[in-house]
Amino acid sequence: MESQTMGSLRASGIASVLGIAILSIMASLLGQETDSSRRGQSLPPALTEPSTPARTNLPKTSGNLRTFQGTGSCSAIACHGGVGRQNCGDQPSSEIWRSEYTVWMTDDPHSRSFSILYDDLATKIATNLAQGGPVVPAYQDLRCLSCHTLPRSEPEFEVTSQLNPDGVGCESCHGPASDWISQHTTSNWRTLDSRTKQRDYQFWDTKNLLQRTQICSGCHVGNRNDSNLADRDMNHDMIAAGHPRLAFEMASYSDLHANHWCEKPARWSENIRTPAPSASERSAWLWATGRLATASAALELSAARAESQAAPWPEFSETNCYSCHQELTPELAALKKPGQRLGRPAWGTWYFSGIEPLVRPNPMEQGGLVELFGNYGKLMQSPVANRPKMALESRQIGQKLRDLADQRNQTGLSPNEIKQILDQQIHNSTDPAPKAWDEEAQRFLTLSSLARYHGKQWMSPQVLRELDMLKIRLQATTATKVR
Ligand code: HEC
Ligand code: HEC
Ligand code: HEC
Ligand code: HEC
Repeated sequence: MESQTMGSLRASGIASVLGIAILSIMASLLGQETDSSRRGQSLPPALTEPSTPARTNLPKTSGNLRTFQGTGSCSAIACHGGVGRQNCGDQPSSEIWRSEYTVWMTDDPHSRSFSILYDDLATKIATNLAQGGPVVPAYQDLRCLSCHTLPRSEPEFEVTSQLNPDGVGCESCHGPASDWISQHTTSNWRTLDSRTKQRDYQFWDTKNLLQRTQICSGCHVGNRNDSNLADRDMNHDMIAAGHPRLAFEMASYSDLHANHWCEKPARWSENIRTPAPSASERSAWLWATGRLATASAALELSAARAESQAAPWPEFSETNCYSCHQELTPELAALKKPGQRLGRPAWGTWYFSGIEPLVRPNPMEQGGLVELFGNYGKLMQSPVANRPKMALESRQIGQKLRDLADQRNQTGLSPNEIKQILDQQIHNSTDPAPKAWDEEAQRFLTLSSLARYHGKQWMSPQVLRELDMLKIRLQATTATKVR
């Protein structure tokens, strides 16, 4: 199998799953860059809250059968089912919109994530996965429901199938409502800060950007670590069956998401930074925290895969798709990453490329995080890689990255750091060495997320030119090279 994959595997179906989602996100980001009406408006001074250390771990689920309320219980007109959206650019009030349900229902694909399991593509995936055996319909398959509906434990899935049609409903991101619903509707609720709501009522703190990323990446990266939740795992088998490859990046996905809130920057990290951040820092802040937190999630997932005898390993979806899905040419050989052995796919090209500036200047470098990474990548590509050992290393590096994410969650990026990263990204374009698709795509997302800092001040002609060029190159690669 190995020699066949390395030799001349042609990917007829791969263009339909590789990068399609990310390309559509790029198109919409690029559209927004030129839409001056949406960016750079200043926001009123943010609310303040007493500063205390941020909590960053989502409460562990209990494992007991919980009574979820379902999205319908949030939808009353007086609660979250009103109409209209607020314009956050002008003078957003600190009030919630009260139309969250309506926005979710009409504009947010999360509300359709169950119904798409009846679509042609889902049917095709299910049929391919069955490999000629009896087909489990996608809308009944736990492997699909675990991400396309409210995440629950396996026993919970069995007794609460009535919740499936909600898709990714309110409780997927705000936590199981049984613990908080009675308090939530009292006047006392509004006086509680987000930490207390989480600690005492399991109402997840989505204002903490690290936790917010952890919530999203549970489905958008995957998670096999919570023994109280059914595994959420997008592996190469499902991708080969037709599922889009998951290529998540927090800042751009947050931009694309049909928000039902205005950001409250002063409460992002429990107001640890003084002065409090401004809302225009959102993209840069989410980029930095998000890159580190998703990389950490990817390593946790990798570790759990290595530990589970039921999971294929090494898992192809963790490596560069083009390592196998193209005929070997001299140009491709030149795409070799430092330390990569020829004939072995490069590991971790999506979650780890372009992350160096966030890892390097840190004192943790003493512990050799960059080195650890290098060794880890090399080991993953070695024929003697051993599952328990890799799992252990993977968790250790993952934990370090999570700590770094926690630091970024409290500080964001300074203007100086942003400028340095932008300069470096532009400089990279003059480097004649051929670049891998993942690397270029991450570069695109980095430039677009960071250049928006402080309105469009840094969206220089240079940056715009680079973004246009990258987009053309990325699209051309998907359209012609890989058929
Ligand atoms: C690890 C979580 C996860 C699992 C498991 C999962 N999905 Fe998905 N699925 C997603 C995410 C996230 C997207 C959106 C991808 C994007 O745009 O980045 C998606 C997108 C899709 C789409 C495309 C929607 C569109 O309109 O483009 C289909 C169809 C689909 N999934 C079906 C399935 C089926 C069938 C299964 C089970 C075999 C499954 N999914 C398992 C997370 C998952
Ligand atoms: C995909 C994840 C996700 C889903 C699904 C989701 N939310 Fe949210 N919601 C968030 C995030 C992230 C925020 C912003 C952080 C914050 O302010 O708490 C937010 C903010 C809110 C706010 C504003 C809180 C504030 O203090 O300003 C309300 C109200 C809300 N959501 C209600 C709902 C309701 C009702 C539903 C279901 C119809 C829902 N949400 C579904 C992620 C989600
Ligand atoms: C419970 C699982 C789950 C969680 C949690 C979740 N998502 Fe999703 N998300 C999905 C699935 C499944 C889809 C695909 C839905 C579809 O295409 O109909 C999706 C689609 C999306 C899309 C549309 C992508 C596209 O290609 O158009 C965006 C943007 C998105 N999610 C952002 C987020 C963000 C930001 C968060 C965290 C605040 C989040 N999601 C949390 C499962 C989840
Ligand atoms: C180590 C080599 C290897 C890597 C890396 C790899 N694949 Fe594959 N892929 C294969 C092999 C072998 C097959 C054929 C067997 C199968 O269907 O599983 C295949 C099949 C596929 C197919 C079905 C092709 C068709 O014509 O029906 C798709 C789609 C696909 N892969 C996508 C991807 C994506 C996307 C990535 C990156 C996330 C990736 N692959 C990474 C080896 C690889």
